Amino acid sequence: MTSRTCLSIILAAGEGTRMKSAKPKVLHEIACLPMVAHVAAAAKKAGGGDVALVVGYGADEVRKAAARLNPAPEIFVQEQRLGTGHAVLAARTAIARGDDDLLVMFGDTPLIEAEPLLAARQKLAEGAAVAVVGFRPADPAGYGRLIEKDGKLVAIREVKDASEAEKKIGFCNGGLMAISGKHALALLDAVGNRNANSEYYLTDIVEIAHARGLNVVAIEASAESVLGINNRAELAQAEAIWQRRRRHAAMLSGVTLIAPETVFFSHDTEIGQDTLVEPNVWFGPGVKIASGATIHAFSHIEGATIATGAQVGPFARLRPGADLHEKAKVGNFCEVKKATVEKGAKVNHLTYIGDARVGAGANIGAGTITCNYDGFGKHFTDIGAGAFVGSNSSLIAPVTLGDGAYIASGSVITDDVEADALAFGRTRQKTIPGKGKELRERFAAAAAAKKK
Ligand code: UD1
Ligand code: MG
Repeated sequence: MTSRTCLSIILAAGEGTRMKSAKPKVLHEIACLPMVAHVAAAAKKAGGGDVALVVGYGADEVRKAAARLNPAPEIFVQEQRLGTGHAVLAARTAIARGDDDLLVMFGDTPLIEAEPLLAARQKLAEGAAVAVVGFRPADPAGYGRLIEKDGKLVAIREVKDASEAEKKIGFCNGGLMAISGKHALALLDAVGNRNANSEYYLTDIVEIAHARGLNVVAIEASAESVLGINNRAELAQAEAIWQRRRRHAAMLSGVTLIAPETVFFSHDTEIGQDTLVEPNVWFGPGVKIASGATIHAFSHIEGATIATGAQVGPFARLRPGADLHEKAKVGNFCEVKKATVEKGAKVNHLTYIGDARVGAGANIGAGTITCNYDGFGKHFTDIGAGAFVGSNSSLIAPVTLGDGAYIASGSVITDDVEADALAFGRTRQKTIPGKGKELRERFAAAAAAKKK
């Protein structure tokens, strides 16, 4: 990476009408992360420095979401949408601080990676005034065409202003460019709006720079990486591409995915070597899985930490705050929320563990429920190491079961149970010899009397 300083400008003022959404377009998510955050992340990886975010439609909402980014961007409001060139100038005061490089990106191009951004910055380091990220789309349709002469980029022609010959050019503007800081304001201020849209086109700086004898170049990126999102179908397409990339990376890093196309990662999923993920698993945000864990089929996991050798599912739901220690087991139709399942503990069937600790080696029987909510507040259940909770027990929180406590099946436990004690929270069984037979005969006689 060059030692040059950089400012990243992300344009996100568009309304995104075609999304048909109350939510600003750039806040729609790919892999559980707003599109604009993906763009900011790519800029960060490319050494993009401070971020200036140009907002318009839904400014307050975008501002709120942007505050969670690192670095938090400086927000500029473009009051009127007069074109991409006009939008960049909304960040004039940031540009005027005089960074060496300026990266201009679109907030609705979430698949961009650091590589083309770095390549464009490298061109600036080598003396170019502007470096444009181009691509060759299958259908050039509405993209700006890159017009080259003698290996130099001389203009970008928006399709509405292009001649028939220019429209035939397949090399198009991906919408990202790097501009040398020392030329940026002079070039941007020279942009006019005499074109078919009466807009200030950022792309016009190419022709202006060329006319001034400055060096302008295009680099090529994959069509995938500059995919712009305009509607929900394209959003899904971008999600699919992102997931494909992530699955591939997971497998190359030593994770086994039996049916990769059915596993969905979040932008921040961490997953260690030799972990096995069976088909149809969904990872929401905040999941950290160590090496050698097994995630069985149809599990839904978010905000959870899963240690080495732990087993989850099939059909398990881990919600935020689920913390499975080494070799813990959470089996089928179990839900765990804000609870620690310590080393080797087993929660195997049809159970809800919420706001709780399950001590090391404890065994939680089928159908056990921690009754953590009384309609007003949440309460904690503490289950000691080696405890045994018989099937179909309700543990009414707050409640503590000591180490080695033994809970009879079907108990409703309302009081603390001391270590190694046996607790029955149900009436004892009563058996009356011969009474079954007597009942049967009585019912049969009554039924026969009715038939007559
Ligand atoms: C732009 C490029 C085109 C390129 C294409 C790639 C220009 C003039 N054209 O066209 O060469 O092939 O992207 O996708 O730059 N925006 C603002 N304020 C404005 C206008 C736009 O913030 O006043 C933002 C939009 O929210 C969007 C981005 O800039 O994120 C691009 O705007 P859009 O209208 O999509 O430009 P295109 O017509 O697609
Ligand atoms: Mg566009």
